[in-house]
Amino acid sequence: MRTTLIDGIGLLYTGDPEREEIEGAALVIEDGRVAWTGEAGRAPDADERVDAAGRCVIPGFVDSHAHLVFAGDRTAEFGARMSGEAYTGGGIRTTVAATRAASDAELAARAAALVAEMNAQGTTTVEIKSGYGLTVEDERRSLEIAAALTAETTFLGAHVVPAGADPDAYVRLVTGEMLRACAPYAKWVDVFCERGAFDGDQTREILTAGIKAGLRGRVHANQLGEGPGVRIACELGAASADHCTHLTDADVDALATSGTVATLLPGAEFSTRSPYPDARRLIDAGVTVALATDCNPGSSYTSSMPFCVALAVREMRMTPLEAVRAATRGGAHALGRADVGWVGPGSRADLVVLRAPSYVHLAYRPGVPLVHQVFRGGLLLE
Ligand code: NIG
Ligand code: FE
Repeated sequence: MRTTLIDGIGLLYTGDPEREEIEGAALVIEDGRVAWTGEAGRAPDADERVDAAGRCVIPGFVDSHAHLVFAGDRTAEFGARMSGEAYTGGGIRTTVAATRAASDAELAARAAALVAEMNAQGTTTVEIKSGYGLTVEDERRSLEIAAALTAETTFLGAHVVPAGADPDAYVRLVTGEMLRACAPYAKWVDVFCERGAFDGDQTREILTAGIKAGLRGRVHANQLGEGPGVRIACELGAASADHCTHLTDADVDALATSGTVATLLPGAEFSTRSPYPDARRLIDAGVTVALATDCNPGSSYTSSMPFCVALAVREMRMTPLEAVRAATRGGAHALGRADVGWVGPGSRADLVVLRAPSYVHLAYRPGVPLVHQVFRGGLLLE
Protein backbone atom coordinates (compact mmCIF):
# COMPACT_ATOMS: atom_id res chain seq x y z
CA MET A 1 0.00 0.00 0.00
CA ARG A 2 1.40 3.43 -0.98
CA THR A 3 2.02 5.89 1.83
CA THR A 4 1.87 9.70 1.63
CA LEU A 5 3.74 12.02 3.98
CA ILE A 6 2.31 15.50 4.47
CA ASP A 7 5.26 17.46 5.72
CA GLY A 8 5.92 21.07 6.67
CA ILE A 9 2.64 21.54 8.58
CA GLY A 10 3.02 24.82 10.51
CA LEU A 11 0.32 23.84 12.99
CA LEU A 12 -1.65 20.59 13.17
CA TYR A 13 -4.91 20.73 15.11
CA THR A 14 -5.44 17.01 15.76
CA GLY A 15 -8.72 17.07 17.65
CA ASP A 16 -7.19 14.37 19.85
CA PRO A 17 -7.56 15.47 23.50
CA GLU A 18 -4.27 13.69 24.33
CA ARG A 19 -2.34 16.13 22.17
CA GLU A 20 -4.64 18.63 20.57
CA GLU A 21 -2.10 20.75 18.70
CA ILE A 22 1.34 20.00 17.24
CA GLU A 23 3.57 22.76 15.89
CA GLY A 24 6.00 21.94 13.09
CA ALA A 25 4.12 18.70 12.34
CA ALA A 26 3.87 16.00 9.72
CA LEU A 27 1.48 13.11 9.15
CA VAL A 28 1.39 9.93 7.14
CA ILE A 29 -1.60 8.62 5.20
CA GLU A 30 -1.90 4.93 4.39
CA ASP A 31 -4.86 3.21 2.82
CA GLY A 32 -7.23 6.14 3.39
CA ARG A 33 -6.38 6.41 7.08
CA VAL A 34 -3.92 8.40 9.10
CA ALA A 35 -1.06 6.10 10.09
CA TRP A 36 1.18 8.52 11.98
CA THR A 37 1.26 12.10 13.32
CA GLY A 38 4.07 13.92 15.12
CA GLU A 39 6.92 16.39 14.85
CA ALA A 40 8.13 16.78 11.29
CA GLY A 41 11.71 15.86 12.22
CA ARG A 42 10.63 12.39 13.38
CA ALA A 43 8.44 11.49 10.42
CA PRO A 44 8.93 8.03 8.92
CA ASP A 45 9.71 7.59 5.23
CA ALA A 46 6.86 7.42 2.78
CA ASP A 47 6.38 6.73 -0.94
CA GLU A 48 5.22 10.23 -1.70
CA ARG A 49 5.74 13.61 -0.01
CA VAL A 50 3.46 16.65 -0.01
CA ASP A 51 4.83 19.94 1.40
CA ALA A 52 2.24 21.92 3.37
CA ALA A 53 4.65 24.89 3.31
CA GLY A 54 3.89 26.03 6.85
CA ARG A 55 0.12 25.94 6.48
CA CYS A 56 -2.24 24.83 9.23
CA VAL A 57 -3.96 21.42 8.91
CA ILE A 58 -7.19 20.52 10.69
CA PRO A 59 -9.57 17.54 10.47
CA GLY A 60 -12.29 17.81 7.82
CA PHE A 61 -15.35 19.56 9.21
CA VAL A 62 -18.22 17.33 10.35
CA ASP A 63 -21.45 19.14 9.49
CA SER A 64 -23.94 17.18 11.59
CA HIS A 65 -27.11 19.09 10.65
CA ALA A 66 -28.20 19.92 7.10
CA HIS A 67 -31.38 19.86 5.02
CA LEU A 68 -30.14 19.47 1.44
CA VAL A 69 -33.00 17.72 -0.37
CA PHE A 70 -35.32 20.48 -1.52
CA ALA A 71 -36.36 22.57 -4.51
CA GLY A 72 -37.09 26.26 -4.92
CA ASP A 73 -35.79 29.00 -2.69
CA ARG A 74 -37.10 31.48 -0.14
CA THR A 75 -35.40 34.70 -1.22
CA ALA A 76 -38.62 36.70 -0.76
CA GLU A 77 -39.07 35.37 2.78
CA PHE A 78 -35.48 36.29 3.63
CA GLY A 79 -36.00 39.78 2.20
CA ALA A 80 -39.15 40.23 4.29
CA ARG A 81 -37.28 39.12 7.40
CA MET A 82 -34.52 41.59 6.79
CA SER A 83 -37.26 44.24 6.65
CA GLY A 84 -38.41 43.25 10.12
CA GLU A 85 -40.65 40.17 9.82
CA ALA A 86 -40.13 37.35 12.32
CA TYR A 87 -39.15 33.77 11.43
CA THR A 88 -41.80 31.25 12.50
CA GLY A 89 -40.92 28.15 10.48
CA GLY A 90 -44.14 28.64 8.49
CA GLY A 91 -42.15 28.95 5.25
CA ILE A 92 -41.27 25.25 5.45
CA ARG A 93 -44.58 24.58 3.65
CA THR A 94 -43.43 26.72 0.67
CA THR A 95 -40.40 24.48 0.25
CA VAL A 96 -42.54 21.36 0.70
CA ALA A 97 -44.73 22.42 -2.26
CA ALA A 98 -41.66 23.08 -4.47
CA THR A 99 -40.00 19.83 -3.41
CA ARG A 100 -43.06 17.69 -4.15
CA ALA A 101 -43.26 19.25 -7.64
CA ALA A 102 -39.59 18.54 -8.46
CA SER A 103 -38.26 15.44 -10.24
CA ASP A 104 -35.91 12.99 -8.53
CA ALA A 105 -33.14 14.13 -10.89
CA GLU A 106 -33.61 17.81 -9.98
CA LEU A 107 -33.56 17.06 -6.25
CA ALA A 108 -30.52 14.81 -6.56
CA ALA A 109 -28.59 17.38 -8.62
CA ARG A 110 -29.39 20.18 -6.19
CA ALA A 111 -28.34 18.12 -3.15
CA ALA A 112 -25.14 16.95 -4.87
CA ALA A 113 -24.27 20.55 -5.75
CA LEU A 114 -24.67 21.58 -2.12
CA VAL A 115 -22.47 18.70 -0.96
CA ALA A 116 -19.82 19.78 -3.50
CA GLU A 117 -20.09 23.34 -2.17
CA MET A 118 -19.57 21.99 1.37
CA ASN A 119 -16.59 19.83 0.33
CA ALA A 120 -14.92 22.86 -1.22
CA GLN A 121 -15.23 24.63 2.13
CA GLY A 122 -13.65 21.79 4.07
CA THR A 123 -16.60 19.61 5.06
CA THR A 124 -15.83 15.91 4.68
CA THR A 125 -18.77 14.40 6.60
CA VAL A 126 -22.33 15.71 6.28
CA GLU A 127 -25.66 14.67 7.72
CA ILE A 128 -28.65 15.09 5.40
CA LYS A 129 -32.28 15.17 6.52
CA SER A 130 -35.53 14.60 4.69
CA GLY A 131 -38.42 16.78 5.80
CA TYR A 132 -39.55 18.72 2.74
CA GLY A 133 -41.61 15.87 1.28
CA LEU A 134 -44.04 15.02 4.08
CA THR A 135 -45.79 12.28 2.09
CA VAL A 136 -44.70 8.65 2.31
CA GLU A 137 -43.25 8.69 -1.21
CA ASP A 138 -41.71 12.18 -1.03
CA GLU A 139 -39.99 11.42 2.27
CA ARG A 140 -38.81 8.03 0.97
CA ARG A 141 -37.34 9.47 -2.22
CA SER A 142 -35.72 12.34 -0.28
CA LEU A 143 -33.91 9.79 1.87
CA GLU A 144 -32.95 7.64 -1.09
CA ILE A 145 -31.35 10.73 -2.66
CA ALA A 146 -29.63 11.60 0.63
CA ALA A 147 -28.33 8.04 1.08
CA ALA A 148 -26.54 8.27 -2.27
CA LEU A 149 -24.54 11.20 -0.85
CA THR A 150 -23.85 10.27 2.78
CA ALA A 151 -24.11 7.52 5.38
CA GLU A 152 -25.60 10.04 7.84
CA THR A 153 -29.22 10.21 6.72
CA THR A 154 -32.04 11.44 8.94
CA PHE A 155 -35.79 10.82 8.66
CA LEU A 156 -37.50 14.15 9.45
CA GLY A 157 -41.07 13.34 8.42
CA ALA A 158 -41.94 15.25 11.62
CA HIS A 159 -40.74 18.60 10.29
CA VAL A 160 -44.21 20.22 10.29
CA VAL A 161 -47.76 18.95 9.90
CA PRO A 162 -48.39 19.42 6.17
CA ALA A 163 -51.01 21.96 5.08
CA GLY A 164 -54.51 20.56 5.41
CA ALA A 165 -53.53 17.46 7.39
CA ASP A 166 -54.98 16.48 10.76
CA PRO A 167 -52.13 16.52 13.33
CA ASP A 168 -53.09 13.22 15.04
CA ALA A 169 -53.54 11.42 11.73
CA TYR A 170 -50.20 12.82 10.53
CA VAL A 171 -48.36 11.56 13.63
CA ARG A 172 -49.91 8.12 12.98
CA LEU A 173 -48.63 8.26 9.39
CA VAL A 174 -45.12 9.34 10.46
CA THR A 175 -44.87 6.59 13.11
CA GLY A 176 -46.42 3.96 10.83
CA GLU A 177 -46.35 3.69 7.06
CA MET A 178 -43.94 6.59 6.51
CA LEU A 179 -41.43 5.28 9.04
CA ARG A 180 -41.59 1.79 7.49
CA ALA A 181 -40.93 3.22 4.02
CA CYS A 182 -38.10 5.50 5.20
CA ALA A 183 -36.25 3.43 7.80
CA PRO A 184 -34.31 1.37 5.21
CA TYR A 185 -32.66 4.58 3.96
CA ALA A 186 -32.20 6.34 7.31
CA LYS A 187 -29.78 6.08 10.21
CA TRP A 188 -31.43 8.77 12.35
CA VAL A 189 -34.89 10.02 13.29
CA ASP A 190 -35.47 13.71 14.03
CA VAL A 191 -38.46 15.80 15.17
CA PHE A 192 -38.98 19.57 15.04
CA CYS A 193 -40.19 20.00 18.64
CA GLU A 194 -41.50 23.55 18.72
CA ARG A 195 -44.72 25.52 19.08
CA GLY A 196 -46.35 25.35 15.64
CA ALA A 197 -44.62 22.06 14.78
CA PHE A 198 -44.71 19.06 17.22
CA ASP A 199 -45.35 19.18 20.97
CA GLY A 200 -43.60 17.16 23.68
CA ASP A 201 -45.98 14.17 23.59
CA GLN A 202 -45.85 13.94 19.82
CA THR A 203 -42.06 14.26 19.85
CA ARG A 204 -41.72 11.47 22.39
CA GLU A 205 -44.07 9.24 20.40
CA ILE A 206 -42.28 9.81 17.07
CA LEU A 207 -38.77 9.39 18.49
CA THR A 208 -39.78 6.23 20.36
CA ALA A 209 -41.28 4.73 17.20
CA GLY A 210 -38.12 5.59 15.24
CA ILE A 211 -35.86 4.10 17.87
CA LYS A 212 -37.97 0.93 17.88
CA ALA A 213 -37.49 0.75 14.12
CA GLY A 214 -33.71 0.74 14.64
CA LEU A 215 -32.95 4.45 14.15
CA ARG A 216 -31.19 6.72 16.64
CA GLY A 217 -32.71 9.97 17.79
CA ARG A 218 -31.84 13.64 17.32
CA VAL A 219 -34.15 16.58 17.97
CA HIS A 220 -34.69 20.13 16.66
CA ALA A 221 -35.10 21.57 20.14
CA ASN A 222 -35.67 24.96 21.78
CA GLN A 223 -35.01 26.99 18.61
CA LEU A 224 -37.76 29.59 18.78
CA GLY A 225 -38.64 29.41 22.47
CA GLU A 226 -38.27 27.33 25.61
CA GLY A 227 -39.92 23.92 25.45
CA PRO A 228 -39.55 20.24 26.26
CA GLY A 229 -37.36 19.29 23.26
CA VAL A 230 -33.96 19.29 24.95
CA ARG A 231 -35.15 17.33 27.97
CA ILE A 232 -36.88 14.72 25.79
CA ALA A 233 -33.72 14.36 23.68
CA CYS A 234 -31.66 13.71 26.82
CA GLU A 235 -34.25 11.40 28.34
CA LEU A 236 -34.51 9.24 25.20
CA GLY A 237 -30.74 9.09 24.68
CA ALA A 238 -30.72 11.16 21.49
CA ALA A 239 -27.24 11.74 20.09
CA SER A 240 -27.90 15.44 19.76
CA ALA A 241 -30.28 18.27 20.62
CA ASP A 242 -29.99 20.87 17.89
CA HIS A 243 -30.41 24.67 18.06
CA CYS A 244 -30.55 24.98 21.91
CA THR A 245 -31.20 28.70 21.59
CA HIS A 246 -33.66 29.08 24.49
CA LEU A 247 -32.57 26.98 27.47
CA THR A 248 -33.61 26.81 31.13
CA ASP A 249 -31.17 25.74 33.86
CA ALA A 250 -32.91 22.33 33.86
CA ASP A 251 -32.17 21.96 30.13
CA VAL A 252 -28.49 22.78 30.65
CA ASP A 253 -28.34 20.28 33.56
CA ALA A 254 -30.00 17.59 31.45
CA LEU A 255 -27.44 18.12 28.67
CA ALA A 256 -24.53 18.15 31.11
CA THR A 257 -25.55 14.86 32.73
CA SER A 258 -26.55 12.96 29.58
CA GLY A 259 -24.46 11.96 26.59
CA THR A 260 -26.54 14.23 24.36
CA VAL A 261 -24.53 16.79 22.40
CA ALA A 262 -25.79 20.39 22.10
CA THR A 263 -25.50 21.25 18.41
CA LEU A 264 -25.46 25.00 17.85
CA LEU A 265 -26.48 26.39 14.46
CA PRO A 266 -25.46 30.05 14.39
CA GLY A 267 -26.24 30.35 10.68
CA ALA A 268 -29.92 30.13 11.68
CA GLU A 269 -29.66 33.01 14.14
CA PHE A 270 -27.70 35.02 11.59
CA SER A 271 -30.28 34.45 8.84
CA THR A 272 -33.32 34.95 11.06
CA ARG A 273 -31.73 37.90 12.88
CA SER A 274 -32.30 36.24 16.25
CA PRO A 275 -30.31 36.16 19.47
CA TYR A 276 -27.56 33.53 19.43
CA PRO A 277 -27.46 30.54 21.83
CA ASP A 278 -25.40 30.98 24.98
CA ALA A 279 -22.46 28.75 24.08
CA ARG A 280 -20.42 29.83 27.11
CA ARG A 281 -23.12 28.72 29.53
CA LEU A 282 -23.14 25.26 27.88
CA ILE A 283 -19.37 24.85 27.69
CA ASP A 284 -18.89 26.08 31.26
CA ALA A 285 -21.48 23.53 32.43
CA GLY A 286 -19.46 20.74 30.77
CA VAL A 287 -21.82 20.11 27.85
CA THR A 288 -20.31 18.74 24.61
CA VAL A 289 -21.00 21.33 21.93
CA ALA A 290 -21.08 20.83 18.16
CA LEU A 291 -21.36 23.44 15.42
CA ALA A 292 -23.21 22.78 12.17
CA THR A 293 -24.58 24.83 9.27
CA ASP A 294 -28.29 23.81 9.33
CA CYS A 295 -28.01 24.42 5.59
CA ASN A 296 -31.62 24.84 4.36
CA PRO A 297 -33.44 27.29 2.09
CA GLY A 298 -35.40 28.94 4.91
CA SER A 299 -33.56 29.65 8.12
CA SER A 300 -29.89 29.20 7.17
CA TYR A 301 -28.93 29.01 3.52
CA THR A 302 -25.20 28.66 4.11
CA SER A 303 -23.10 25.58 3.39
CA SER A 304 -20.02 27.08 5.04
CA MET A 305 -18.54 25.64 8.22
CA PRO A 306 -15.81 28.35 8.21
CA PHE A 307 -18.59 30.96 8.33
CA CYS A 308 -20.19 29.14 11.30
CA VAL A 309 -16.84 29.00 13.09
CA ALA A 310 -16.44 32.75 12.62
CA LEU A 311 -19.97 33.38 13.92
CA ALA A 312 -19.38 31.11 16.92
CA VAL A 313 -16.27 33.05 17.89
CA ARG A 314 -17.58 36.55 17.28
CA GLU A 315 -21.22 36.15 18.26
CA MET A 316 -21.24 33.27 20.76
CA ARG A 317 -17.98 34.03 22.55
CA MET A 318 -16.42 30.67 21.81
CA THR A 319 -12.65 30.72 21.56
CA PRO A 320 -11.26 29.83 18.12
CA LEU A 321 -10.06 26.52 19.59
CA GLU A 322 -13.50 25.73 21.03
CA ALA A 323 -15.17 26.60 17.73
CA VAL A 324 -12.86 24.45 15.61
CA ARG A 325 -13.21 21.60 18.11
CA ALA A 326 -17.02 21.88 17.95
CA ALA A 327 -16.96 21.93 14.13
CA THR A 328 -14.87 18.76 13.92
CA ARG A 329 -14.82 16.46 16.93
CA GLY A 330 -18.09 17.93 18.27
CA GLY A 331 -19.88 17.11 15.02
CA ALA A 332 -18.44 13.59 15.09
CA HIS A 333 -19.81 13.13 18.64
CA ALA A 334 -23.19 14.38 17.48
CA LEU A 335 -23.17 11.65 14.82
CA GLY A 336 -21.74 8.95 17.08
CA ARG A 337 -18.67 8.67 14.83
CA ALA A 338 -15.26 7.76 16.22
CA ASP A 339 -13.45 7.63 12.85
CA VAL A 340 -13.85 11.27 11.80
CA GLY A 341 -13.49 14.71 13.39
CA TRP A 342 -9.92 14.11 14.53
CA VAL A 343 -6.56 13.33 12.95
CA GLY A 344 -4.39 10.60 14.41
CA PRO A 345 -3.41 6.97 13.97
CA GLY A 346 -6.55 5.09 12.91
CA SER A 347 -8.70 8.09 11.98
CA ARG A 348 -10.02 8.46 8.45
CA ALA A 349 -7.64 10.71 6.50
CA ASP A 350 -10.07 13.62 6.22
CA LEU A 351 -7.99 16.79 6.29
CA VAL A 352 -8.25 20.45 5.50
CA VAL A 353 -5.09 22.31 4.59
CA LEU A 354 -5.74 25.97 5.36
CA ARG A 355 -4.23 28.82 3.43
CA ALA A 356 -3.18 30.23 6.82
CA PRO A 357 -0.67 29.44 9.57
CA SER A 358 -3.37 28.86 12.21
CA TYR A 359 -7.03 27.83 12.50
CA VAL A 360 -7.54 31.14 14.34
CA HIS A 361 -7.63 32.73 10.89
CA LEU A 362 -11.02 31.07 10.27
CA ALA A 363 -12.49 33.66 12.64
CA TYR A 364 -9.84 36.35 12.28
CA ARG A 365 -10.30 36.55 8.49
CA PRO A 366 -14.06 35.95 8.10
CA GLY A 367 -15.42 35.53 4.60
CA VAL A 368 -11.97 34.87 3.12
CA PRO A 369 -11.61 31.56 1.23
CA LEU A 370 -8.94 29.93 3.40
CA VAL A 371 -9.43 26.32 2.35
CA HIS A 372 -6.38 25.37 0.29
CA GLN A 373 -6.85 21.60 -0.08
CA VAL A 374 -9.29 19.00 1.20
CA PHE A 375 -8.49 15.28 1.58
CA ARG A 376 -11.27 12.79 2.17
CA GLY A 377 -10.29 9.21 2.96
CA GLY A 378 -6.76 10.17 1.90
CA LEU A 379 -7.85 11.36 -1.54
CA LEU A 380 -7.43 14.97 -2.62
CA LEU A 381 -10.82 16.40 -3.57
CA GLU A 382 -10.61 18.60 -6.67
O1 NIG B 1 -33.47 23.77 11.39
N1 NIG B 1 -36.38 24.39 12.42
C1 NIG B 1 -36.77 23.62 11.55
N2 NIG B 1 -36.11 23.33 10.44
C2 NIG B 1 -35.15 24.16 9.84
C3 NIG B 1 -35.75 25.26 9.10
C4 NIG B 1 -36.42 24.81 7.92
C5 NIG B 1 -36.99 25.89 7.07
O2 NIG B 1 -37.25 27.03 7.51
O3 NIG B 1 -37.20 25.53 5.89
C6 NIG B 1 -34.13 24.64 10.86
O4 NIG B 1 -33.95 25.84 11.09
FE1 FE C 1 -32.60 22.16 10.94
